[in-house]
Amino acid sequence: MNRAEEIKKRRTFAIISHPDAGKTTITEQLLKFGGAIREAGTVKARKTGNFAKSDWMDIEKERGISVTSSVMQFDYAGKRVNILDTPGHEDFSEDTYRTLMAVDAAVMVIDSAKGIEAQTKKLFQVVKRRGIPVFTFINKLDRDGREPLDLLSELEDILGIASVPMNWPIGMGKNFQGLYDFYNKRIEVYQPENGERSIEFDENGEIDASHPLTNNPFYAQAMEDAELLLDAGNEFDEKKVLAGQLTPVFFGSALTDFGVETFLDTFLTYAPEPNGHKTVEGELIDPLREEFSGFVFKIQANMDIRHRDRIAFVRIVSGEFERGMGVKLLRTGKQVKLSNVTQFMAESRENVENAVAGDIIGVYDTGTYQVGDTLTTGKLKTPFEPLPTFTPELFMRVTAKNVMKQKSFQKGIEQLVQEGAIQLYKTYTTGEIMLGAVGQLQFEVFKHRMENEYNSEIIMTPLGSKTVRWIRPEDLDEKMSSSRNILARDRFDHPLFLFENDFAMRWFKDKYPDVELMEQFSV
Ligand code: G4P
Repeated sequence: MNRAEEIKKRRTFAIISHPDAGKTTITEQLLKFGGAIREAGTVKARKTGNFAKSDWMDIEKERGISVTSSVMQFDYAGKRVNILDTPGHEDFSEDTYRTLMAVDAAVMVIDSAKGIEAQTKKLFQVVKRRGIPVFTFINKLDRDGREPLDLLSELEDILGIASVPMNWPIGMGKNFQGLYDFYNKRIEVYQPENGERSIEFDENGEIDASHPLTNNPFYAQAMEDAELLLDAGNEFDEKKVLAGQLTPVFFGSALTDFGVETFLDTFLTYAPEPNGHKTVEGELIDPLREEFSGFVFKIQANMDIRHRDRIAFVRIVSGEFERGMGVKLLRTGKQVKLSNVTQFMAESRENVENAVAGDIIGVYDTGTYQVGDTLTTGKLKTPFEPLPTFTPELFMRVTAKNVMKQKSFQKGIEQLVQEGAIQLYKTYTTGEIMLGAVGQLQFEVFKHRMENEYNSEIIMTPLGSKTVRWIRPEDLDEKMSSSRNILARDRFDHPLFLFENDFAMRWFKDKYPDVELMEQFSV
């Protein structure tokens, strides 16, 4: 197979969801279809920390976060699928957001009883800004949940995305009969009593009137809903799906492995091939371009405690990676050799021989790379556009435990901030150090790395959640600082306020109507 064909086979996506919606369960099912895990339960065992593998960072073991499963690859139906993990919950961090910069599509898993939850909403916003396709899987139909029509309206009302159901549940919970599969024109039977897993439609789009299911009240209800949807709902429109304006919705039950295979088949039919990526000058680098290029979207520290290594995760944008190849790191202009590189299969990290645009590789790093770095074999002169930064919501005040060890403390903070592990702020007048993160785990990893890599013990004092707003330097008046806000500066010395809550921010706006509060700094 030539390189272009290889690239066109790639489907790289992330699954986004609120904790407990069923992401782990569905991931396992997908891997099982891909033959990538022999036993279901592997991903889950990793999540719960029962998986005996010795080379994970301590903190990851404690928290049960799996490293090897952060990128999973398998072959299915002629495609090479890459699933990137986006941890939820306390594990939530900027990495989670940045991972979404490295995928071409997203799958959103929703618990049918809960609808759209907080974390899903946050992750969806990032996906929406990127304009990549989102496919929705509404899970846990084997339990009683909300009305399917309500769930569709929620997609529209809360997330602002139009939806098109690809299948429709017939009953739910104890009364779950199966799925009316609009797309494949059949009914998938949930628990067939007579081995009949699928009922095909006749040319009129109906099932045989003598079929016992036609007497089932839930069937009648589903047919009524379906009619309504076909009349008044959105039509499937591939262009809109690819532009992220329309989300195809699938119902199912990951736990009982119902509807997952149909989902995977249809998803892979429409999921896009690898996208190009823009440089800072706006040039779109095509995946089929000859030269190798890629960008670092995540750096994971100490994956193997014996080697004290880090891994820089690189999304290949164009061309092909070959083991041992020399590439240029555009930020420094230095030539680096990519010899120790892994690719991620579900069961193990494997040393990769080659990989192409769309794939993710893990490059061993001894402090060379930063998040956002561009790697290329030469002709590309301008780096890829910078990865967006995400406004932190949680804050800590940090000091060195041992005041005599200021040097290693400063060095650690400087390097970890540069690497993108955490965000740095200082109180405006006194210069006390505060760190900002989008998830609690970032602080824990920071503390762990300060101690282990920089030999610097630290004291962190929680400041709680805050709302950050930048102001223009010319608007700054130190008198604006009050007990409900902290006047601070970011690492580029831009002035900002950390507000206690929205109430404090409104109070400020009333008091200083001429001062613009900005979500991102701009002059
Ligand atoms: P997450 O990765 O999104 O956090 O969710 P995960 O897959 O771990 O699923 C969260 C819980 O929901 C698990 O139950 C899981 O078994 C259950 N679950 C997932 N999909 C379905 C489904 O289709 N139907 C039903 N009824 N349950 C589902 P748990 O009680 O937390 O774990 P366990 O006791 O099963 O180990």
